[in-house]
Amino acid sequence: MFNNEIEFIQNLYSTREFITLHQPFFDDREKKFVTDCIESGFVSSVGKEVNEFEEKIAKYCGVKKAVACVNGTSGLHLALLLSGVNANDFVITQDLTFVATANAIKYCNANPIFIDIDKSTLGLSPQKLEDFLKKNPQLKIKAVVAMHSFGHPCAIDEIKIICDKYGIKLIEDCAESLGSFYKNKHTGNFGDIGVLSFNGNKIITTGGGGMLLFNDEELAKKAKHLSTQAKINHPWEFIHDEIGYNYRMPNLNASLGLAQVEKLPKLLEKKRQLSKKYQEFFGERFFCEPKNSLSNYWLNSIFLENKIQQQEFIKFTNEQKIMTRPVWRLMHKLEMFKNSITDDLSTANWVEDRLVNIPSWVKL
Ligand SMILES: Cc1ncc(COP(=O)(O)O)c(C=O)c1O
Repeated sequence: MFNNEIEFIQNLYSTREFITLHQPFFDDREKKFVTDCIESGFVSSVGKEVNEFEEKIAKYCGVKKAVACVNGTSGLHLALLLSGVNANDFVITQDLTFVATANAIKYCNANPIFIDIDKSTLGLSPQKLEDFLKKNPQLKIKAVVAMHSFGHPCAIDEIKIICDKYGIKLIEDCAESLGSFYKNKHTGNFGDIGVLSFNGNKIITTGGGGMLLFNDEELAKKAKHLSTQAKINHPWEFIHDEIGYNYRMPNLNASLGLAQVEKLPKLLEKKRQLSKKYQEFFGERFFCEPKNSLSNYWLNSIFLENKIQQQEFIKFTNEQKIMTRPVWRLMHKLEMFKNSITDDLSTANWVEDRLVNIPSWVKL
């Protein structure tokens, strides 16, 4: 049925064995850095590696400050708190996203509103966002969370203009977009705060981890304070001036990140080569980076004809030991979000029925 596709992917990876969707790549550098960290004794919430990792990521992304945290989800939670999101506020995000984006809104006891995506970016649609805001002036929208799906930048500059017009904070969920640039600027530079993830399935990993990106240094200071139990600096006293969180990335994880970040440029190059091969093979069916973007191609995506063909493709490829996955179930269809406010979601529904992620890992 999809024998040509199976053969092509098996040849790409030179194996007839199981092919995962994504997997990390490590060599002796990771072993050395992690061993050095263990030997130093500083494996937990304090250490030089975590500071160094923050500096390296801030430099790479071209932001003024980066603040490490335990994972992308905690980073999103902090970003929302720092944006002043309180109980009963409304926060707009895209209907097509990973559940963590919407969950983080709920952690603040705020209400997510799910808006449609654009077919050309798979990210939040500026047009639909503005339509919704115009139609609903009575709603108190505190923040918008736009996500760069599978590493492809959304039309974040247009979204920023709309947010500024309506006085709404903008958070970029960059969990999947480390190494992705929009109009020559790294994702995470357009909104008030950007949030990366270093989960094991991401382009580089710290085991578990995340990073907040800031161009406002005061906000970055507040983020570090909140992520470290809101403890006031003092040589021995335990004084905390607000409810804080234990969200600081452990130094041990950062040591792994330092070895990984060295590999990022090469991994990105290899990922572009892989996506080019997929594009040549799948042609029109392959999702290409949006205009004005340089995407990291974290997860490659193809479109099938319809829901039936999508399901057949996923079943067949997985039976043939090639891991493929449908896009996430749309947020408004999940039990805990089914009563949320939404608007026209025709593009998200269209994409949900057709998109499939195909193996995207590379090694050096
Ligand atoms: C879009 C998106 N947002 C948030 C997250 C959460 O990141 P983490 O797994 O590091 O908590 C992920 C991935 O895991 C993601 O893909």
